[in-house]
Amino acid sequence: MKPFQLTHKTALVTGGASGIGRAIAETFAKNGARVVILDFNETQAKEVVEAFKAEGLELQYIICDVSKAEEIQQIVDDIASQNKIDILVNNAGVAHVGNIENTTEADLDRIYSINIKGVYNCVKAVIKHMKGNNGVIINMASIASSVGISDRFAYSMSKGAVLTMTYSIAKDYVDQGIRCNSISPARVHTPFVDGFIAKNYPDNQKEMFEKLSKTQPLGRMGKPAEIAHLALYLASDEASFITGTDFPIDGGFIKLNG
Ligand SMILES: NC(=O)c1ccc[n+]([C@@H]2O[C@H](COP(=O)([O-])OP(=O)(O)OC[C@H]3O[C@@H](n4cnc5c(N)ncnc54)[C@H](O)[C@@H]3O)[C@@H](O)[C@H]2O)c1
Repeated sequence: MKPFQLTHKTALVTGGASGIGRAIAETFAKNGARVVILDFNETQAKEVVEAFKAEGLELQYIICDVSKAEEIQQIVDDIASQNKIDILVNNAGVAHVGNIENTTEADLDRIYSINIKGVYNCVKAVIKHMKGNNGVIINMASIASSVGISDRFAYSMSKGAVLTMTYSIAKDYVDQGIRCNSISPARVHTPFVDGFIAKNYPDNQKEMFEKLSKTQPLGRMGKPAEIAHLALYLASDEASFITGTDFPIDGGFIKLNG
């Protein structure tokens, strides 16, 4: 059998309607998984699932907000009543630019509720269904989880928490056969990055794109498919000896800058 196959496995991918999550949903489906995208952008989710259908891939989407605990619990219980949930990818996340002085309390609460509580809600909803079932949880952290990135106070706070929640969950559930790891990308070229440049640097978008590309020593941004293939490996049985670990995928950002 080919390695890295997810045949007969059910995978939930939050934020699967765009960017990295979309690539993960596609890669998992191409390697045999039954994928359910959980996303709050209905237009995009529909478009993505239709595009996959044209490629012969059957994926489902459910519209939801990961920051809403009851909504997530209900959706997860419904899915679990039909299929064993094997994989959860906590990928939904939002960005924020600012230092502590220009980050408002409302900004902080918003980033907390999606990037941190979203992970908490999804893991809390899924974990009871995964016990004793070789469940796999993959959290999308960031290089901002472990190194200082300027002007990213709230975002770094949230991604630091994603990293440490990963360690905590991995430790608490290692005896129940659940593996939990995180991925820490540097900049990846997605709508997340395009939106950030358009909003913050409307007059010099091309120049900013070049500048952001060069902050990775490899001289470019990552591609969503590159992150998706790491996620595929971590979700597969070939990674069954890996838990409680963070995987930077960063074009050399953490170790080679400076
Ligand atoms: N792109 C990068 O450079 C980069 C780098 C490091 C980490 N990350 C992380 O990777 C993840 C994906 O980033 P991306 O660049 O693909 O982003 P993206 O904006 O392209 O996609 C994010 C998706 O999450 C969904 N989403 C946002 N909030 C949600 C909510 N409350 N409930 C349900 N769905 C929600 C959006 O609708 C969207 O489809 C994020 O967690 C981000 O922090 C991205």
